[in-house]
This record gives sequence, C-alpha cells and structure tokens, in this order.
Amino acid sequence: MRIAIGADHGGWPLYRSVIEEVGRLGHDAVGVNPQESIQPGDDYPDYAVLIGERIERGDCERGILICGSGVGASVAANKLVGIRAALCHDTYSAHQGVEHDNMNVLCLGARVVGIELALELVRAYVNANFSGEERHKRRLEKIRKLETG
Ligand code: RB5
Repeated sequence: MRIAIGADHGGWPLYRSVIEEVGRLGHDAVGVNPQESIQPGDDYPDYAVLIGERIERGDCERGILICGSGVGASVAANKLVGIRAALCHDTYSAHQGVEHDNMNVLCLGARVVGIELALELVRAYVNANFSGEERHKRRLEKIRKLETG
C-alpha cells in the first residue's frame, strides 16, 4: 500500500520517523512535504490538499497528516471529497477507524503524543483493514451522500 505522509511545522518532529515506520511495515511511504526541513511559516491545509490529491487520483490509498495538535489537520482533510480523516491518539480508534469507518487519513498531533505512541498509532492504522461488513458499508454510503448532497 502507498501511504502519503505530510506535516506542517507543528507536526515536523514526527514526520521522518513516521515515514521510516511506514517503510519498516513494508509499505511505500510517500512524503508530500516539498522541502526536507521544517518550514516555520507553513499551513497545515496545504499538506491536507497534497495528501488528498494523491488519494483522489489513486496514487496513494491512505494518508497520515501531522500537525501540532492534529485538530487542524483533521478539520482540513475532512473538507476534501473522498477523505475520511480522524485524529486518533489511542490505538483502539486508530485501527477501529479503519475497520468500521474506512478511515483513509490518520491525523496525529506531534505536540500531544510522543514518538513511541505515535509509532504505535501508525502501526495500528497501517495494519488495519476495512471489515467490509454490510452495516459499515451502509453507514459509509450515508456519509458519501452527505458529501455530494
Ligand atoms: C501550527 O502552529 C499549529 O496551529 C498547527 O500545527 C495545528 O496544531 C493546528 O491544529
């Protein structure tokens, strides 16, 4: 699976480690940050768009978006069509969000969680698969209709 990963300056401390962890798990980590260094004046919605575009065009199946709290990242990402993003700072939500809700963008707050918990969250998310159960598909279809009106 190809996973797009992006971070603003608040999320930068986790960016490289998350990319490495995704690679260790046997997946292709696609870093979307154009620069290889922290950009103190950057804006998290721009990284949400970079990840959303890759998912929308089928270049990546999932994303991980990191900001300071993870809140702005999830607010921005959920504005994009086809994106089901959630801020997860517990491992249950990080895998159950995929299994039940087909979450395709995990949001993390680098000012809230430490590196070890962040990597556990990444592992829980990446190793999870959508269950495909009818009740979950029904709910996702209702969400899809919310998007298109
Ligand atoms: C950036 O300073 C910070 O506001 C951002 O990373 C994020 O925490 C927003 O939710």
